[in-house]
Amino acid sequence: MKIIGAKPILTASIVAILGVVAQATVVNADTTSAKEGEAAFNTFCVACHQAKGEGKPGVAPSLVSPEFLASAPDSLLLETIENGRPGTAMVGWKAVLGEKKIRSVIAYLRSFAKSESRVAQVNAEPAAKGDPAMGKEFFNRICAGCHGENGGGYLVGGNAPAIGNAGFQKVASDGYIREMVRKGRSNTRMRGFQGSDGLANLTNQEIDNVISYLRTLNSAVK
Ligand code: HEC
Ligand code: HEC
Repeated sequence: MKIIGAKPILTASIVAILGVVAQATVVNADTTSAKEGEAAFNTFCVACHQAKGEGKPGVAPSLVSPEFLASAPDSLLLETIENGRPGTAMVGWKAVLGEKKIRSVIAYLRSFAKSESRVAQVNAEPAAKGDPAMGKEFFNRICAGCHGENGGGYLVGGNAPAIGNAGFQKVASDGYIREMVRKGRSNTRMRGFQGSDGLANLTNQEIDNVISYLRTLNSAVK
């Protein structure tokens, strides 16, 4: 195609994007609607998180795995989408979307949930009582290959989220991290680390050691 042809296509796609935004803003102001959230998602989030939030290895996590949707509280979703995970490609969207539209995006993501919510159980889990030094040794041997040195994630050459990041640490409870490590996330490279079909069969103490180590990290931009 000649370069000259590129301009109308670009203009057309900008018009299309603006069209979606305009459409989204006329939806009934009172309903937190998954439909409105879908439009916003397809405008602002799809480039990284992909169609229907399925994620892309090495780029951005899935937002629709059954384990994530079952165990992530709304506060984790809301705070991550509003404020981002500073120091990663996940920027905050509060200024662009506002809380109401962000809640509609959350409603859209929740519409993919296939299993019962475990948020109450996850929130009721006790704090980790681990040995950070043992956890560090373990993290470097087993987790760092994907999550990067110091849990720095994609930006330090990993192929998984920055779980050492301060923004993550703030919103992720010990119970949530424990659940992710135990069960993993279906259809992603994050396999479970407990039970017979896990990548390893870690004891609860070993998992707590890793969590206690993660709590010593803050790999956000220094
Ligand atoms: C430029 C790419 C990019 C865009 C655009 C983007 N994200 Fe993200 N998002 C990421 C990355 C990368 C992460 C993981 C951050 C890390 O490394 O820890 C992430 C993490 C998340 C998480 C936390 C998931 C988890 O596993 O804890 C949520 C929720 C999220 N994004 C929602 C959204 C929503 C909603 C939008 C649109 C309003 C959006 N993102 C736009 C790249 C992006
Ligand atoms: C083979 C690669 C791999 C290994 C090894 C691995 N992970 Fe993951 N992990 C991932 C990927 C990829 C994701 C994001 C999955 C997705 O797309 O939803 C993830 C997600 C997570 C999350 C959720 C992060 C968030 O933003 O909500 C936690 C917590 C986690 N892993 C902890 C660990 C721990 C602790 C270990 C070591 C015991 C570990 N992982 C080992 C690849 C891995």
